[in-house]
Amino acid sequence: MKPKTIIEPFKIKSVEPIRFTTRDEREVLLKDAGYNPFLIHADDVLIDLLTDSGTSAMSAKQWAGIMEGDEAYAGSKSFFRFEAAVKNITHMKYIIPTHQGRAAEKILFSIVGGPGKYFPNNTHFDTTRANIEFSGAEAVDLLNEVGKHPEIRADFKGNMDIEKLEAFIKEKGAENIPLCMITVTNNSGGGQPVSMQNIRETKEVCKKYNIPLFLDACRFAENAYFIKKREKGYADKTPLEIAQEMFSYADGATMSAKKDALVNIGGFLALNDEELATKCRNLLIVTEGFPTYGGLAGRDLEAVAQGLLEVVDENYLEYRIRSVEYLGEKLISLGVPIIEPPGGHAIYIDAKRFLPNIPADQYPGQSIVCELYLEGGVRASEIGSVMFGKYDKNGKLITAMMELVRLAIPRRVYTQSHVDYLIEIIEEVYNNRNKLKGYEIIYEAPILRHFTALFKPLR
Ligand code: F0G
Repeated sequence: MKPKTIIEPFKIKSVEPIRFTTRDEREVLLKDAGYNPFLIHADDVLIDLLTDSGTSAMSAKQWAGIMEGDEAYAGSKSFFRFEAAVKNITHMKYIIPTHQGRAAEKILFSIVGGPGKYFPNNTHFDTTRANIEFSGAEAVDLLNEVGKHPEIRADFKGNMDIEKLEAFIKEKGAENIPLCMITVTNNSGGGQPVSMQNIRETKEVCKKYNIPLFLDACRFAENAYFIKKREKGYADKTPLEIAQEMFSYADGATMSAKKDALVNIGGFLALNDEELATKCRNLLIVTEGFPTYGGLAGRDLEAVAQGLLEVVDENYLEYRIRSVEYLGEKLISLGVPIIEPPGGHAIYIDAKRFLPNIPADQYPGQSIVCELYLEGGVRASEIGSVMFGKYDKNGKLITAMMELVRLAIPRRVYTQSHVDYLIEIIEEVYNNRNKLKGYEIIYEAPILRHFTALFKPLR
């Protein structure tokens, strides 16, 4: 039998109009925003691919949960439903709600971080790195070599380099490494998955040196689905069983529920260590709120609990991973260079190969991002030298390792015809690539400059 099209496993009950603009209007809007799409009003964007975080469409059952939220300050019914849902997946003993992922990170690293401490990860996400560095500790990326090459196709390009990890522990001393992390999927490295074998092997090394292993679990369900599809021995397991096994190797986890809990706000810390959990809860009370709500309303906890049930549904994950892959495959067939294979939550255009004539210090990624907006009202984000560029002591730009443009796909929000339109826009921009120009920065903040920088096109 011929395989059938994988369709959206839902029908639409509530719609939100998107606003069409003309190219002339977009030229003015982009100029007024200093050629920085972060500064464009969302209402002036047709298809918004800035992030997959907090942009999910909630289900009818999640909205029903919003109505049922128990807003009691302490001991809310919604907390216990939330706690049970998180425990069902993680099997961890202590579940601490936070308002989003970085709040969990802030609490964790305020307690275990500090000067002289090191935290290895496959690749730290920016906020994780920032929270570690803010504590005075050092964040270290130990990604497997294959993950650093956008053009190489491999199944698990998010894997930790196990040999490097062990050498690193020996060099720095296990006593200076309060915990080791693995980010699933590896957002900063293209949304690439980590294999179960790699999680298991990382755990073995950590165990040998008595170092707890933590998951940055934002996209745990997408990672579980990749394991099901690509790793031997997992084809017949459910995504939930696979996720449970992933967490079984971990001693703790941080989570931004804005990704794989299919909600607009939320997060948590999950821990097995009672002493650490007590310290985290005490800090939570100062910074987020009482331990049965964290920084959330009871209704948010309900929506997370329901989202965690829905995200491990196999039909959902099949559609989710396939819809991102569909976009990736079409772009590859048009010759557009992307990180291969397509990741779980986003497609990353390789701007260096897309625009070989624009040097990194003229920000080729920014040039593509601006052109996507002008051409079709599409908003994407630069992940290259605008985001990660630093200056040496002579003021010369140290460029980023890669120049990427991320097309992050919100969950359950856009249909296949939106994606087909997006492909047409990218094709148009690609065909006109020889006409694209570089940019210079005319204003920048001292940290996280990409959010507020202002640009000028070079002529
Ligand atoms: N860890 C990873 C891997 C992430 O991708 C993010 C957020 C966080 C932690 C922080 O979570 O936003 O809830 O505080 N990533 C978003 C993105 C912002 O666009 O990739 P948060």
